[in-house]
Amino acid sequence: MLKLSKLATAVALVVAGSAAVAGEVEVLHYWTSGGEAKSVAELKKIMQAKGHVWKDFAVAGGAGDNAATVLKSRVVSGNPPAAAQIKGPAIQEWAAEGVLANLDATAKAEKWDDLLPKVVADVMKYKGNYVAAPVNVHRVNWMWANSAVLKKAGVTSTPKTWDEFFAAAEKVKKAGLIPVAHGGQNWQDFTTFESVALGVGGTKFYNDALIKLDEKALTSATMTKVLETFRKIKGYTDAAAPGRDWNLATAMVIQEKAAFQFMGDWAKGEFSAAGKVPGKDYICAAAPGTSNAYTFNVDSFAMYKLKDAGAQKAQGDLAASIMGTEFQEVFNLNKGSIPVRLNMKMDKFDDCAKTSAKDFVDTAKSGGLVPSVAHGMAIKPAAEGAIKDAVSQFWNDDKISVADGVKNIAKAAATK
Ligand code: GAL
Repeated sequence: MLKLSKLATAVALVVAGSAAVAGEVEVLHYWTSGGEAKSVAELKKIMQAKGHVWKDFAVAGGAGDNAATVLKSRVVSGNPPAAAQIKGPAIQEWAAEGVLANLDATAKAEKWDDLLPKVVADVMKYKGNYVAAPVNVHRVNWMWANSAVLKKAGVTSTPKTWDEFFAAAEKVKKAGLIPVAHGGQNWQDFTTFESVALGVGGTKFYNDALIKLDEKALTSATMTKVLETFRKIKGYTDAAAPGRDWNLATAMVIQEKAAFQFMGDWAKGEFSAAGKVPGKDYICAAAPGTSNAYTFNVDSFAMYKLKDAGAQKAQGDLAASIMGTEFQEVFNLNKGSIPVRLNMKMDKFDDCAKTSAKDFVDTAKSGGLVPSVAHGMAIKPAAEGAIKDAVSQFWNDDKISVADGVKNIAKAAATK
């Protein structure tokens, strides 16, 4: 009897103990496509296994434009989620508002400074303190191609230059298929645009024009060439492109309706979810002219200050889990990205991911590693938004001359 009551007390203590440390974690994200939803579900599983309650706050809309608007209204009304998927300079802007939590205790215990490339750690910190946890590294300057479509069109090798690309696109068109699957939304237009800028102008031009926003580079002859090439690509897209979501464009490549898509490697998450194999069903290649460069896009969760102790504990566990080896592997296998945590085993990853991991390290040494502007890694949100609008206006309106396009983009870049 005595033994039993002792046991009951012990059980009660354990239950009370875990109740005290468990909490609800509300996570705002925009991962709603097939591959993305599979990826984020892994984080939910890990948090639930730790006894926490996952409150999913998914806001559909590629690249997170809608999510950013919803986040603002929640924070302004004093009711932020525990974590929100934001990145790059936007993290700094939120931190400057004084609403982000300090993650240094977790970061120290988990040795984040040793486990992250410095270029990434710096973005996660505000005034030296961690305020966000990084998830992955996406490469943006990819070109995806359907092997069967290329074969049907008589394209025998993957284009490495823009000239080769247009020759291949012409063949696909003649074969009655869509050369380029595009989704006409401004972040997708810009995803293509920045790959063209990198391919046509090289890393120095990309840095000067799109990151330093240097007027001379923005109005140079190279910029003219970039816009001419960019416009030429539009001629190979279909009439239904305007407004199309990125994953529907990827589906056109998967379903052999289109040959190519310019998109970051979250597109690979869609190929994987559809059971397609790289090197066999589809090809991943650097966008023409960009094989020695790497536009990086690091997804991350910024953590907001919370009052409830259980929620704070859950938030700390979320941050630690995000950087843990279990999550870094399974999430990135599904997402198409590579782990952001250094020294991870890559044996389960496919060749595209292995190329990405190697190129990430190589370009960091050679100077070819540059932040993606399209994906909010490089410049302040106001200027980014203005440039994106100018680029999309040019893309959408064939009456805007290249010379005017150049002028409009340079003017937008001056937005403070
Ligand atoms: C990117 C983001 C990716 C993916 C993509 C489409 O900006 O970094 O994780 O979600 O948008 O929404």
